[in-house]
Amino acid sequence: APVRDDYRPRVHFAPARNWMNDPNGLVFHRGVYHLFYQHNPSAPVWGNMSWGHATSPDLHTWTEQPVAIPCTEHEAIFSGSVVADPGNTAGFADGAAPGSDGEEVIPLVAVYTSAYSEGADRPGTQAQSLAYSLDDGATWTKHAGNPVLDRGSANFRDPKVFRYAGPAGEYWVMAVVEAEEHRVLFYASDNLTEWRYLSDFGPAGAMGGVWECPDLFELPVEGVPGETRWVLIVSLNPGGVAGGSGTQYFVGEFDGVRFRAEDAAPAAPVAADGPAQGAVGLRALDWLDWGRDYYAAVSFSGVEDRRVMLGWMSNWDYAAATPTAAADSGAAGAVPGGWRSAMSLPREVSLHRAGGRHVLAQRPLLPEDRGPVRGAAALPAGASRSLPAGRTRVARVPRGEAFRVRLALPAGSPACTLRLVTGEDEGALLRVDPDAGMLTLDRTGSGLTDFHGLFASVEAAPLPGAEEGVRLDVIVDACSIEAFAQDGLVALTDLVFPRGTETVLELEAEAPFALAELEVTLLG
Ligand code: FRU
Repeated sequence: APVRDDYRPRVHFAPARNWMNDPNGLVFHRGVYHLFYQHNPSAPVWGNMSWGHATSPDLHTWTEQPVAIPCTEHEAIFSGSVVADPGNTAGFADGAAPGSDGEEVIPLVAVYTSAYSEGADRPGTQAQSLAYSLDDGATWTKHAGNPVLDRGSANFRDPKVFRYAGPAGEYWVMAVVEAEEHRVLFYASDNLTEWRYLSDFGPAGAMGGVWECPDLFELPVEGVPGETRWVLIVSLNPGGVAGGSGTQYFVGEFDGVRFRAEDAAPAAPVAADGPAQGAVGLRALDWLDWGRDYYAAVSFSGVEDRRVMLGWMSNWDYAAATPTAAADSGAAGAVPGGWRSAMSLPREVSLHRAGGRHVLAQRPLLPEDRGPVRGAAALPAGASRSLPAGRTRVARVPRGEAFRVRLALPAGSPACTLRLVTGEDEGALLRVDPDAGMLTLDRTGSGLTDFHGLFASVEAAPLPGAEEGVRLDVIVDACSIEAFAQDGLVALTDLVFPRGTETVLELEAEAPFALAELEVTLLG
């Protein structure tokens, strides 16, 4: 049955129809960003796992392409990565004539998990396989020698491959998980087809569920010329900091063989698998995101000068129940069958020294800024404006617009709530409490919440350095809120499904307070 499409994002990628989960094979190649993704081409629920495909010149305008790697009867195509192989190390370009444009062929190689079902040679196992493209990602061929790495395991998945070049030599490295054992395994290869075991990392950090979708990359330490560290990303489901699925990270050294985390401090503990409802485990900053909806985040390969990540903006707790694919026949703007899930905005990550540790900061890469919302109370950076106690309306944004709110509070401010009001008694509440050093997002009254018992929730995140002031950068799209605080040291992403036809932005505090910056702009 057709459904209303009110929740289709304006500045985030979502498939035209049917199911999507993890980003896969993120690669920048010959001027084009490729986003592959876990996709069910025939229903808005998980199943028939195949790699969907979208391309973009700028990470914001995406064009959906035909399914890149389809599942077969006994093989599902699970998560993985793509690398360009300009040296033809795998030999996939042997004998290939130059492309129609006369350009030399550079093979793209997808490394993915084959999840074999009953009827396959290896029923019930997960092993790593290859597919390649000789036409810059348009069409894909499975490697005849698949799988290329098989340990007879039922939970061996999500290979992330990168080119290592360092003191130990130059070769391909694969990070891949033994999901149930909380281990990331590292392998090396000279040709992408034969892999030798290097080492493994874990158990460590948060282990309330299975480990999935690892990534490993090197970053410069900001402000310390010549110094770098390696970052190991590990997604976790369930057991994430806000309940359900979440993404943690470790910082350390990688010598080409072994990853060593430099910080013995445990990741923020999460006891039960439920939404964090208070100041639990807010000591460490080892979560990429403190919200409910940022999972399976991995980085692009082929981007030289910066590290850009993208995550799936949902949570395994309720992903299959979100109200973008329910029947609501005959409505205007209807999409037969609907779609499920969007990706986060791309985020540039950087590494900083803070509180005696190395921590990641994230900066959303923003789509076109269409200027201030008309009639919004704006305040340039550095200016100051006093607001009375109680609620002050600062802007009004019609439905269907994506927008950004930037806000700064000086040192000594009282607790203050940014209210995203979408109806009578309906809204999402983003609260900053400088004294407690906490940021919370309450979506219990944000609109449609009862489609799943685990959806209504309140998320909490630390606000490091809040005593010196608070800076918020919030991006709101049709069904999502991505909040970045303290220049990206903290990120918090949540889905919301408002019923109302506009968003009224209000600021609320118990005492009069001063704003140091306020800007509301339209995006996309
Ligand atoms: C993570 C995940 C991966 C797996 C894929 C299957 O969300 O469970 O571990 O490869 O989804 O769709």
